Formats: sequence, structure tokens, C-alpha cells
Amino acid sequence: LFAGETDFLKGVVAMDGLPPADRLEVCFAGRSNVGKSTLINALTGRKGLARASNTPGRTQEINFFTLADSHYLVDLPGYGYAEAPLPVVEKWQRLLKAYLSGRQTLRRAFVLIDARHGVKPVDEEIMKLLDQSAVTFQAVLTKADKVKDKDRGKVLDQVRGALSKHPAAYPEIVLTSSEKGDGIPTLRSIIATLE
Ligand code: GTP
Ligand code: MG
Repeated sequence: LFAGETDFLKGVVAMDGLPPADRLEVCFAGRSNVGKSTLINALTGRKGLARASNTPGRTQEINFFTLADSHYLVDLPGYGYAEAPLPVVEKWQRLLKAYLSGRQTLRRAFVLIDARHGVKPVDEEIMKLLDQSAVTFQAVLTKADKVKDKDRGKVLDQVRGALSKHPAAYPEIVLTSSEKGDGIPTLRSIIATLE
């Protein structure tokens, strides 16, 4: 699947802009700056595909990428960026909610969690939304390269504890580093085996 061609399709700001739901879809959610766009670049092996930056809140649209001719990868706007004006935040939330609850072909949401920080209250909120939308989600820890081996157990326990409260959570946690490539093959095969 990941040997196939990947391309940016479009950025969507309203529900009527969504591409037709004609193929399997997975989305990447997570706080601003957690590494969603960088992870999409690592998965597809294309550095400049999804824009990535140090500036939180950079990705403000729902960005669709085609993967081979069979899948969409979806980069969601980052949440929890305190400096975004309230009307903007509310607009994102409405769009996010509509997308998550209305997308028939959405097979899994990956909720990205910074491996240094674990699950935060804003992450719990998105998990709740995914529960309500009945979208199976899986936690992906990012920036594993920034965490010492000895500290990984603690964060994994914290994330496991948080997931246990959410009926839509898939129990397996994937530890990744887009920088070093850790967990990237695992995540690719998870996506490739979804039906
Ligand atoms: P928004 O679009 O604002 O929601 O952010 P995002 O979640 O798309 O984050 P993005 O991919 O832009 O990454 C934010 C910053 O984290 C960038 O400076 C990346 O280089 C860095 N980063 C992402 N993944 C990793 C990783 O695995 N390891 C390290 N060390 N840095 C990473
Ligand atoms: Mg981004």
C-alpha cells in the first residue's frame, strides 16, 4: 500500500468540501505541534507532503491525501492551541464533530500523544468525541526519540489508564519517532490491514 503513490488532494474547511467517501480512510488527530503532519510525511516517505512546522496551529484545514488509489490519509487541525481565537476554535470543533460523526468510510482515528507528556485533558475530550461518534481510535505516541528508555514505561501506563475509560479505544499503543523511524512500519501495516 505504502509503495503506491501518495498525493495531497485538498484542504477542506467545510463539510460540503469533503471528497466523495469512496475509499477507506484513516485520520490523524492530536494537539497542535504533536507531530501529525510529520508522521504523515514519515509514513508516506515524502518529506514535504504534509506541511510541518514549529508554529502551532499551522494546519487549520482538514487535509486529504490519497494513498495509492485505495485510501485517504486525513490530517486534522491541531487542537488545544490556547492562542487561537475562540470563534476559530469553535468553527474547528463543529467541523471536526461533523466530520467524525458523518464519515462512513472512516475506519480508524489515530490520536497522537506526545510521548513526553502523555494524555492531557484536551486529548480526553477528543477521545470522548470519538466514543460518541463510534469511531475506533488508537493512541500513537510521538517523539519517542525525546524520551529515555527508562521513562517509557511510565507514560505507557498513563496512556493505558486513560484509554481504559474509552469504549472506542483500540488497546494497542504504537510508539513512534518520525525522526528515527521507530514504529513507522508498524503503523503502516496497521493501516494496510484495515478493511
Ligand atoms: P499542527 O499542524 O500545528 O497541529 O502540528 P502537527 O501536529 O502537524 O505537528 P508537526 O508535524 O508540524 O510537528 C511539530 C514539530 O514537532 C516540528 O518541529 C517537527 O519537526 C517536530 N516533530 C514531529 N515529530 C517528531 C519526532 O518524532 N521527533 C522529534 N524529535 N520531533 C518531531
Ligand atoms: Mg500539522
